[in-house]
Amino acid sequence: MPDTLLQKLRAVDPDYYDAARVGMIEVQLERIRRLKRGRNAVLLAHNYQRPEIFEVADFTGDSLGLSLSAADVKDADVIVFCGVHFMAETAKIVSPRKTVLLPNLAAGCSLADTATATAVEDRVTQLKKTYPDLMVVSYVNTTAEVKAVSDVCCTSSNAVSVTRAVPAKHVLFVPDQNLARHVAHHIPEKTIIAWDGYCYVHHQITPDAVESMRREIPGIKILVHPECRDDVLKLADAALSTTGMIEYARQSSATDFLAVTECGISDMLQIGAPGKHFYRACKICRFMKAISLDDVEAALEKMQFRIEIAESVRERAGRAIQRMFELTGATRDNLALPDSAPDE
Ligand code: 13P
Ligand code: SF4
Repeated sequence: MPDTLLQKLRAVDPDYYDAARVGMIEVQLERIRRLKRGRNAVLLAHNYQRPEIFEVADFTGDSLGLSLSAADVKDADVIVFCGVHFMAETAKIVSPRKTVLLPNLAAGCSLADTATATAVEDRVTQLKKTYPDLMVVSYVNTTAEVKAVSDVCCTSSNAVSVTRAVPAKHVLFVPDQNLARHVAHHIPEKTIIAWDGYCYVHHQITPDAVESMRREIPGIKILVHPECRDDVLKLADAALSTTGMIEYARQSSATDFLAVTECGISDMLQIGAPGKHFYRACKICRFMKAISLDDVEAALEKMQFRIEIAESVRERAGRAIQRMFELTGATRDNLALPDSAPDE
């Protein structure tokens, strides 16, 4: 494991993280640590964030791990959320008495924006005429308003388990069509009706990049995020959430991996498992990379940008999230029933 910040960051990108830049980063990290103490704040960071942000994070994880961590915050007054808007909203839903800050409002999610609550309600009304038992499973990548009109939430790590557990044969799965297809493949006994959204980052990854790695590197393990298209998912050794990929790589005896998702995971693996090789067929999410250390410092100084949710929406959205925790038995020590475990 690299011991200095310079060594760690250079493992990710030696051209960008030169000694002068890393020196400035170190000084800024110290200021942020002081501000965090002064505000009694904790910082949660998604696995796709910039690597320097992990240095001031109290918890890093996937959507499920971060929502459980947010629900578990007891002593702090403030949660600084380094991720995207729907994740910060989820933190506010499960921890309503905390001040939740999203350091940059450009950190949205184009997938979450593909579904509005009104459109979901209209579709449900229409579908229930044919399928009276229909239930709505919404991926956590949705607005609080959409969660409020859903029966249950799920994340990439438990979408199959949650959908299997809902007491309905007909399910409207919102908003990711690729994840919906992955769920339908694992639960042929149910009818899964997919919303037509997709993640622009994962949807642009094509099978050729993955197939050529498989040909060139014997024994490589291919880990694919279930937001990818099904022609890419078919090539996977395992379909996993972002934290699932990290755990797989840590536990596997293999030495070569390809994490097919946003590039932040490859950065994280490069830092966290130096004896192994992580090849890239990844894409950058402009929303996830919107937050810089300057934004984090400004967020703590100015207490911006606060996430506020109308109580009636928060309460109904909270029920859908709570149902997910109940259906999967998820706790922070036991991050739900993984849909796909390492298969060695
Ligand atoms: P995870 O929950 O797997 O971290 O995924 C979040 C996300 O936005 C993927 O694009
Ligand atoms: Fe949204 Fe895709 Fe970015 Fe995840 S990677 S935050 S789903 S746009």
